[in-house]
Amino acid sequence: VKHLLGIKYLNEKDIQLIFETADHFKEVINRSIKKVPSLRDITIANIFFENSTRTKLSFELAEKRLSADVINFSAGQSSVKKGETLIDTVNNILSMKVDMVVMRHPNPGAGIFLSKHVNASIVNAGDGAHEHPTQALLDSYSIREKLGDVAGKNVVIVGDILHSRVALSNIFALKLQGANVKVCGPKTLLPKHVESLGVEVETDLRKALNWCDVANMLRIQNERLDISYFPTTREYTQQFGVNRTLLESLNKEIVIMHPGPINRGVEITSDVADSNQSIILNQVENGVAIRMAVIYLLASKIK
Ligand code: CP
Repeated sequence: VKHLLGIKYLNEKDIQLIFETADHFKEVINRSIKKVPSLRDITIANIFFENSTRTKLSFELAEKRLSADVINFSAGQSSVKKGETLIDTVNNILSMKVDMVVMRHPNPGAGIFLSKHVNASIVNAGDGAHEHPTQALLDSYSIREKLGDVAGKNVVIVGDILHSRVALSNIFALKLQGANVKVCGPKTLLPKHVESLGVEVETDLRKALNWCDVANMLRIQNERLDISYFPTTREYTQQFGVNRTLLESLNKEIVIMHPGPINRGVEITSDVADSNQSIILNQVENGVAIRMAVIYLLASKIK
């Protein structure tokens, strides 16, 4: 397979291979070897039709650490604004001898669509409310690093599950690795039939936190939200926000995750986000090794 379009298309062995490859790159980086010559003959275009801080910079850094040539494209400053189509845009970029395209796009399925119409390896860096595969990989990798394994762990994903590509990719990845997964959020922000994905629904946050080893706190996707669905922000925070008082009242110490960007004081307070229980910045650090692994493994299929 020369694309990474979603976790849905991976199996457990693929995930373990990505993790073992990421272990190697993380060890190399930790030895202060910031650049390896692996992909000197590969050119990668990062094309972003939606805003990003972590994913965009992390992919670029991963590519540069592998010695690939890198070009960056932001739709807002491009001829997309003059009406150029996605396929024309990408085919023009590919004609400059580009081998791989990392794309973030607001439309679900944009990566799948592109993979059928252009001749390059496509990596999905987030497609609307559909999938964000490298985020789910770095999330599971961070759980493995913190707790030793993903299998058998109880993980609750809290918040706006309905609009979250992070939630869907995490559910696929965690289930593949044998974790027990619950989702917790307002009923208006849970997909219909979410149980068909093999997860349980818990609408009481305290119960969910007392059950779990890991809580992944999601951001409310205001940009994708029909405001009429939503409890008010204050109501949301009261029922589904995590704060220090709540954490200290639990019967155990749990690991706190967040994909970022954080709405401080909404889904998570600063005294939790910045605490020893939080692995939020470890997730970001691991994102580089995971993306190095993904790009390295895909490049081996196109060389
Ligand atoms: N987690 C994540 O995708 O963050 P960015 O939107 O900043 O890339």
